[in-house]
Amino acid sequence: MTAILLTGKNGQVGADLESLLPQLGSLAALDRSQLDLGNPSEIRRVVRQVHPRIIVNAAAYTAVDKAETDEKVAHAINADAPAILAEEASKIGAVLVHYSTDYVFDGLKQAPYKESDPTNPINVYGRTKLAGEIAIRQSGVPHLIFRISWVYATRGQNFLLTLLRLATQHKELRMVRDQTGTPNWSREIARATVSVLQNVSRESNLLSSLEKFSGTYHMTAPGATTRFEFAQVICDELTRASTPPAWVSAATSGPLIVQRIDPITSAEYPTPAARPLYSVLSSDRLFSTFGVRLPEWRVQLLGAFDKADR
Ligand SMILES: NC(=O)c1ccc[n+]([C@@H]2O[C@H](COP(=O)([O-])OP(=O)(O)OC[C@H]3O[C@@H](n4cnc5c(N)ncnc54)[C@H](OP(=O)(O)O)[C@@H]3O)[C@@H](O)[C@H]2O)c1
Repeated sequence: MTAILLTGKNGQVGADLESLLPQLGSLAALDRSQLDLGNPSEIRRVVRQVHPRIIVNAAAYTAVDKAETDEKVAHAINADAPAILAEEASKIGAVLVHYSTDYVFDGLKQAPYKESDPTNPINVYGRTKLAGEIAIRQSGVPHLIFRISWVYATRGQNFLLTLLRLATQHKELRMVRDQTGTPNWSREIARATVSVLQNVSRESNLLSSLEKFSGTYHMTAPGATTRFEFAQVICDELTRASTPPAWVSAATSGPLIVQRIDPITSAEYPTPAARPLYSVLSSDRLFSTFGVRLPEWRVQLLGAFDKADR
């Protein structure tokens, strides 16, 4: 019997989970061509065939702006598919690990959001992700929903790689300063996930432990920053790195040439989807329940520069 079924193995978090999850047991890691979450009967067939003890759903519709005009598809992947995964997991006695987002909040709070704070998404992506959370909770399956935020990896499409590319192409950049959140390296999210599952399994039987701990947990680094400050810190890191790591060279078109980064407001950089202005999450519950805490966001970024190639 396969222990773990992972969806979305080519995503940022999915790729790091694919490397780390085998610590917990045999892994069936699937990409979109092997399991299309837009196809309900395929989801049911694959779950029944693999028959895992744990389903880790790292796949999602993550194109936040595109979702505004593609709500049906975003809802199918972010809400309907998790509902089916939860239903099928229940039937075979498996547990479901799922990721959600800081974008379930409206960003009007001025202190880190707790799991108990009311949700109120302000864009389609956030609404579909919240619908996925609700469906999982209502299914009654033992589950862990980890809300994560501002994810970057050393591959794929994300703020870190875009900024590095722009900073090696332009002398002046403009970055939004009125959006506050917490960046997280996909590898740290994967590490924290594995640590939680290890700690839970240590308790006793995974299923009965998860029945006890089942719920929603914020899983982000301590600290907060703005897009503007994050961009500056990324450039500082690149300047500090005497030999840039291979992933940086692959993402850039030469040395850093940016000389100035100007702060702007979200209103000066309109996007199809509104972003919450404040989406810092408190991860205290994750620590008090499982003893797991992510490194501070700057430490994570340092790790990506220094250790990602290893
Ligand atoms: N990125 C962030 O800043 C962020 C922030 C908060 C929460 N999250 C949540 O964290 C989780 C992981 O995000 P991520 O950044 O790793 O996302 P990602 O890099 O965009 O990866 C998502 C993966 O889902 C796959 N996928 C999309 N549609 C699919 C379908 N119909 N069937 C099967 N697979 C499909 C994609 O496949 P392809 O490779 O074929 O496109 C991709 O590999 C998601 O639940 C996301 O909502 C992300």
